[in-house]
Amino acid sequence: MHKPILIIGACGQIGTELTFELRNKYGADNVIVSDIREGGDALMQSGPFELLDATDYAAVEDVVMHYEIEEVYLMAAMLSATAEKFPMRAWNLNMNSLFHVLNLAKEKKISKIFWPSSIAVFGPNTPKEDTPQNTIMEPSTVYGISKQSGERWCEYYHKKYGVDVRSVRYPGLISWKTMPGGGTTDYAVEIYHEALKQGKYECFLSSETQLPMMYMDDAIRATICLMESPAEKIKVRSSYNLAGMTFTPKEISKSIEKHIPGFTISYAPDFRQEIADSWPSSIDDTKARQQWGWTPRFDLDQTTKEMLDNLKAMTN
Ligand SMILES: NC(=O)c1ccc[n+]([C@@H]2O[C@H](COP(=O)([O-])OP(=O)(O)OC[C@H]3O[C@@H](n4cnc5c(N)ncnc54)[C@H](O)[C@@H]3O)[C@@H](O)[C@H]2O)c1
Repeated sequence: MHKPILIIGACGQIGTELTFELRNKYGADNVIVSDIREGGDALMQSGPFELLDATDYAAVEDVVMHYEIEEVYLMAAMLSATAEKFPMRAWNLNMNSLFHVLNLAKEKKISKIFWPSSIAVFGPNTPKEDTPQNTIMEPSTVYGISKQSGERWCEYYHKKYGVDVRSVRYPGLISWKTMPGGGTTDYAVEIYHEALKQGKYECFLSSETQLPMMYMDDAIRATICLMESPAEKIKVRSSYNLAGMTFTPKEISKSIEKHIPGFTISYAPDFRQEIADSWPSSIDDTKARQQWGWTPRFDLDQTTKEMLDNLKAMTN
């Protein structure tokens, strides 16, 4: 039987879907869900839940000891757009929560950690096309700085203390079960909701802003595959580049038009444009493919179909 798993920050966009998948796989009572707030009804009714502040070391340790937790998925964080508004709060949450979990592993109270990084670790001086695993990284956002520092600490804890910490640099994630939590790629979710409600969408990025993206099913599959891989295959202990697809607002709008004729998009770039401009437009994920067998399944048109079908079914 799989030993108990704790998800911290489980009520957000990724945590919600990760919870369903892990509970499906390992049993509801083996996956303890926690967050600083309650989540959606389906999540709350699906198994054990603890109200937990990821920045409170004693509280996290209590939950870990009480449930004899073996693995922690740390999903709590402040995302890119929100972090620009509250830099110190973002730094405190993103870094302290990671240190708490790393230290629990160093003290052998847990044995495996998943911690997500982001394409935000790259910056304006990084090569934009097919961004390599190892390259110039000079992030210019609060969020990116916290993720890059987090990567360095993960690698350090692995090398110095043998901590089994695993990570991927998620691109922008597209999903229908939960709304995104304040990132720069949120437009690629909002656009589907507005297409169905209004038949039009005003985008906060410009028409040609090309960013790496991924459908949530692929992201969850990658996460669990990485966590289940034998430790010796995981050679990158900072964080793996991970690619799904890449597109511009204009291209996603064309993909939606195939299902909703007459759909229109307009553009009103705001402060998020500068963040997007500092990020890669496509990612080279050769190492993830070679070392633990990653392959994405969803392209833009498949994503559009899934998003529109599921959102329609939800409102009917
Ligand atoms: N969604 C994306 O496109 C994307 C892309 C790259 C990386 N990531 C990373 O993946 C992780 C999860 O992202 P997400 O999109 O699910 O974010 P989200 O904002 O949707 O969810 C984060 C969750 O953390 C919770 N939280 C906030 N402060 C907390 C605290 N002090 N203690 C406990 N919980 C707290 C929130 O209530 C929320 O439910 C983050 O580390 C994020 O940086 C996300």
